[in-house]
Amino acid sequence: MSEELLSVKNVSISFTQYVQGLNQHELKVISDLSLDVKKGEVVAILGSSGSGKSLLAHAILGILPENGTCEGDICYKNEVLTQQKKEAIRGKEICLIPQSVNFLDPLMKVKEQAIGDVKGEEREEALRKQREIFSKYGLAEEVDDLYPFELSGGMARKVLLSTALLSNPELVVADEPTPGLDEKSVKETIMDIKNLKEEGKGVLLITHDINVALEIADRIAIFYSGFVIEINKTENFADTGKLLHPYTKSLIEALPRNGFKLTEGVQPLEEVPGCVYYDNCPIKSDFCKENRPNLIKCGDAMIRCHNYDKEVK
Ligand SMILES: Nc1ncnc2c1ncn2[C@@H]1O[C@H](COP(=O)(O)OP(=O)(O)O)[C@@H](O)[C@H]1O
Ligand code: SF4
Ligand SMILES: [Mg+2]
Repeated sequence: MSEELLSVKNVSISFTQYVQGLNQHELKVISDLSLDVKKGEVVAILGSSGSGKSLLAHAILGILPENGTCEGDICYKNEVLTQQKKEAIRGKEICLIPQSVNFLDPLMKVKEQAIGDVKGEEREEALRKQREIFSKYGLAEEVDDLYPFELSGGMARKVLLSTALLSNPELVVADEPTPGLDEKSVKETIMDIKNLKEEGKGVLLITHDINVALEIADRIAIFYSGFVIEINKTENFADTGKLLHPYTKSLIEALPRNGFKLTEGVQPLEEVPGCVYYDNCPIKSDFCKENRPNLIKCGDAMIRCHNYDKEVK
């Protein structure tokens, strides 16, 4: 079954900034981003910190900051999501596991925010489910009546995660769901994401941790300097010969040397006319400097490189 849940089409996100009082400056953080998530699929988007991953999550949920602009289409079940539609389905069909614990409402007890606005007979059942999932993550009964400021960072993350899973969404956007969790909770989270997939749900997993991506994802989208430069099946990451982009290849080859962690890399923020990887690329040609490659299909993968089929010397 390959029914499409989420489809992000040519999305760019920029900010208008005011420099020295009156001069407006456009800061483009994400450029021409396309990816999709099907039912029963986990797609990881892997990029270093500050590369715009959380912004993508916020654009999907319709919670970009006021000074941000999003161009392109974000579709859910083949329907373009307007701001109104995003507001109608978020927290229900599409849930965010946010990266920041500031998403918790400071004035509300955590059990109340976890169950949401449920009244009457359904409230008891919702509280029962909330207790069940909280205890799975090691949150004792006393936690239910705490306010966010009374939680440790790790507890707050578990509350956010439980809250998202409680609403039984079709699509989960998990923005760095594991950092800050203890080892047992990391395993629980990974299991939960795998279970969501088994249940036919879709997960967009946003991470800078390649190990988490390799362990859970079916496909991995590599983010570089605001662009998705390659989307490939996770199994192909075991063999650099099956990868397409010179950046992805060098990233994977460098992993053992870097203790299996992503390096921050040099990611230009200034807009360049051609390929963003030009300065670092071992297989560049003059053409690449002035001509930006598009993300094109190559078998099951997607690649943004003019020379991906040429051999790296
Ligand atoms: N409200 C904002 N105004 C201007 N720039 C912003 C704003 N929010 C985020 N950014 C810019 O977007 C970049 C990406 O942010 P973010 O999506 O949080 O990165 P990531 O999640 O990949 O670490 C930041 O480095 C920052 O430069
Ligand atoms: S487009 Fe050119 S510069 Fe960019 S990654 Fe491909 S070969 Fe290298
Ligand atoms: Mg982030």
